[in-house]
Amino acid sequence: MLIRELNGHEIIAHLDQLADLRLGIFREYPYLYDGNRDGERRYLGSYAGKGLVLLALDTEQVAGAITGMSLADETPALVAPFHAAGLAPQEYFYIGELLLYAPYRNHGTGSLLLTRLEQLVEERTSCRHYCFATVVRPDNHPEKPVDFVSIERFSHRHGYRLLPGVSARIAWQEIDGQTTTKRLDFWQKEVKRR
Ligand SMILES: CC(C)(COP(=O)(O)OP(=O)(O)OC[C@H]1O[C@@H](n2cnc3c(N)ncnc32)[C@H](O)[C@@H]1OP(=O)(O)O)[C@@H](O)C(=O)NCCC(=O)NCCS
Repeated sequence: MLIRELNGHEIIAHLDQLADLRLGIFREYPYLYDGNRDGERRYLGSYAGKGLVLLALDTEQVAGAITGMSLADETPALVAPFHAAGLAPQEYFYIGELLLYAPYRNHGTGSLLLTRLEQLVEERTSCRHYCFATVVRPDNHPEKPVDFVSIERFSHRHGYRLLPGVSARIAWQEIDGQTTTKRLDFWQKEVKRR
């Protein structure tokens, strides 16, 4: 598996492949997200210039990706809970998504993508923390697969811990056609500079 960083022009050139990843994988539980290509292209295009995008490539085939940018450049819905908690958004690097197509999971590629991104954040930014958000669903959610693996295990193994008292509320249309507001909790880890 090759991990490759995309520059701004390359991000724009890969918008459809990145949109495919998000549109496909975010349909899965716990996201159940029913997105559209135009919205995805707009959102993903915002990484060109101010964000980081790494692709995992199986020869020419996109297997997965990780994206991120300073939380200060993110949408108000993600930034506001940090302000409300007295935390400075510019000190947080926000990981927007870490996605692998199902056949590529559990082979260490997600860990590799995350470690590479963390390295770049450490080298190129003055952020003091990495963070990301996870959607909170009730344990008895009807769409929860019996073999569901929570991202919590992966997060803990990589040293991330829940940030107490900081949650966002974001609405999106689910695959059943209903738009509902979800709670997102934040995980964080300190950036250790050598
Ligand atoms: C989460 C994910 C990126 C991890 O990448 P990976 O290459 O599968 O992970 P690695 O092989 O490096 O590490 C394996 C660990 O990943 C976790 N994992 C495996 N499959 C997973 C899945 N479908 N969902 C969540 N976590 C998963 C497990 O904790 C596993 O280790 P464990 O069984 O010993 O606890 C990948 O499984 C994935 O794309 N999942 C679906 C999308 C997602 O939920 N992304 C995160 C939010 S944007």
